[in-house]
Amino acid sequence: MQHITASAPGKCILFGEHAVVYGHPAVAVAIDQRINVKIELTKSSTHDWKLDGLIFDPKKHPHIEALKQRLWPTSLNAPPLSINIEGQIPTASGLGSSAALSVAASAALRAARGRWLNNSINSPENWAEGFSSRIDDTDVHSNNQPKDSIREGKLGEKVKFITGSDAVDIDECALLAHAVEAIAQGGRASPMDSSTCSHGHVVVLSDSVEEGIEWQYSRKLITPEGEREWQIHAFKPPTNEVYLVIGNTGIHAPTSKQVEKVALMLKNNPERMKEIETIGIIAKRGIKSLLNGDYESVGRAMSENQLMLQSIGVSSPELESLIQAAAPSSLGAKLTGAGGGGCMVALTRDPKTTSEAIELAGGRTIISSFGARGLTVEEATETPLWISS
Ligand code: MEV
Repeated sequence: MQHITASAPGKCILFGEHAVVYGHPAVAVAIDQRINVKIELTKSSTHDWKLDGLIFDPKKHPHIEALKQRLWPTSLNAPPLSINIEGQIPTASGLGSSAALSVAASAALRAARGRWLNNSINSPENWAEGFSSRIDDTDVHSNNQPKDSIREGKLGEKVKFITGSDAVDIDECALLAHAVEAIAQGGRASPMDSSTCSHGHVVVLSDSVEEGIEWQYSRKLITPEGEREWQIHAFKPPTNEVYLVIGNTGIHAPTSKQVEKVALMLKNNPERMKEIETIGIIAKRGIKSLLNGDYESVGRAMSENQLMLQSIGVSSPELESLIQAAAPSSLGAKLTGAGGGGCMVALTRDPKTTSEAIELAGGRTIISSFGARGLTVEEATETPLWISS
């Protein structure tokens, strides 16, 4: 049976979680642990999709459902698919499992569908179906999104058809995954996770274009608190002299709840925006240190960032105890992701000692190199699984 497989890495945030939702700078690193998605046509004669061998339930998998509506719509007679998801990223733990899933699934669906072009050059202006993450035609985004998340296509002028990995575009996968995350997080989601899981290595978000790092694109989102804009940059760190040790508290902490908690805190105490701004200032300093390869300062900035995360109420006693255990053998440590449970991350030159210390304090550890490859289409067929008319 013809099938397509794609994978995307998880991520760890070095600086800036929560503040990034309000447009402040942040840095994330792709980790070695990945989510793999395999798709093929279902063997059954019904119209049901299958997920890991069971009938697909859209309520349990809103990310897949949103991508299905955008890239594989039943209304256009797209045939039912069977999807298998595997991976080493624990869910609801702050490691970007849902973004990695969305990125890998959008790549697999795009490779399976192929793409019509309006002329022989494959660039977004020539995509015949255009591109959009609008809710009215995709059901994946919040209403009213800025115009630049929409590219109008010219369906009547199809010239060339491309298939497999040639049809996959990292930017499109990142945009779709961001749209899906925004829905899941009540309209408040930065493109941090979706961009890191797409591009891999190190991703820097900022309120302005940063010098010395390759700028990729800007993203806008209208959140319940107003319009946000981020400049997204990516770079490959030149060294493997430092490692990330991730300690999992084992406590599930959905991002949406934590993000909402911070939004409520800021609504009731607008003066506490100062703490969010301080996280942004620490992140700016952290970015400079990172670009200079000064990992001692990077670690210090991470630990300072943790103090502010504590102050806005997203840390927890379990996270604090793992962070304390990691401190003596690491350059810096903090929670990563939305907090409230989930994972902490330590930057270290001695991953074995740091990992043992975290395990002794009751955490389950994962060791990762500092930056991993981004989205990869592992297997794709030349023949699409479905050609849209
Ligand atoms: C989640 O990994 C990080 C948060 O900043 C949310 C977001 O950026 O969308 C808490």
